[in-house]
Amino acid sequence: MNDTPTLRAAGGQPALSRRTFMMTTAASAGVAAAGGSAAATLDAPANPHAGSQATRVTVNGKPYELALEPRASLLDVLREQLGLTGAKKGCDHGQCGACTVHVDGRRVASCLTLAVKTDGCAVTTIEGIESPDGTLHPMQQSFIDHDALQCGYCTPGQVMAAIACVREGHATSDAQIREYMSGNICRCGAYAGILEAIREAAPQMLRSQGARHA
Ligand code: FES
Ligand code: FES
Repeated sequence: MNDTPTLRAAGGQPALSRRTFMMTTAASAGVAAAGGSAAATLDAPANPHAGSQATRVTVNGKPYELALEPRASLLDVLREQLGLTGAKKGCDHGQCGACTVHVDGRRVASCLTLAVKTDGCAVTTIEGIESPDGTLHPMQQSFIDHDALQCGYCTPGQVMAAIACVREGHATSDAQIREYMSGNICRCGAYAGILEAIREAAPQMLRSQGARHA
């Protein structure tokens, strides 16, 4: 049995096999889409950045000029293009907080942030918060001191959210810390340690902020 049915012209003459018909139609469509300049289209070198958008962004103090797909998330760009894998992909839907980073000092879920929207902004990730001499940020140190983690997967997001929580003035009581950290899920249930860590780091952070602005 012939599984490639033949198309017949109006007069009953065999005209085209189905495969030839499909290939001819597709080729014609390509020429039409190119406005008749098939040769120019075929000869043109492929542009790997076709449809990309130029984006200038500073990440952890380092300036970058990137050609980004408009739909790329900040999380994917940080992890896959810049090699900054501290921010984690937990849910990719804005529900777990594992991807928390700062954009111009404000915490964001980087999985829900279009990278092109950070054009002209300063992004800070967990890799960018220690001092130049390698001293950990007080919040990082406090997480260690209070054993505020188990597997550690949520920890970079927790630390970035905790720093923002203090800076926003939302760490003045345990209830307030719980409320303003509620967007960051810890599947290991290390919440008691996280609360203690923030409680202890908050006054230290505020003292050092005050000293900088004095
Ligand atoms: S990965 Fe972004 S909120 Fe979960
Ligand atoms: S320490 Fe494992 S998810 Fe938080």
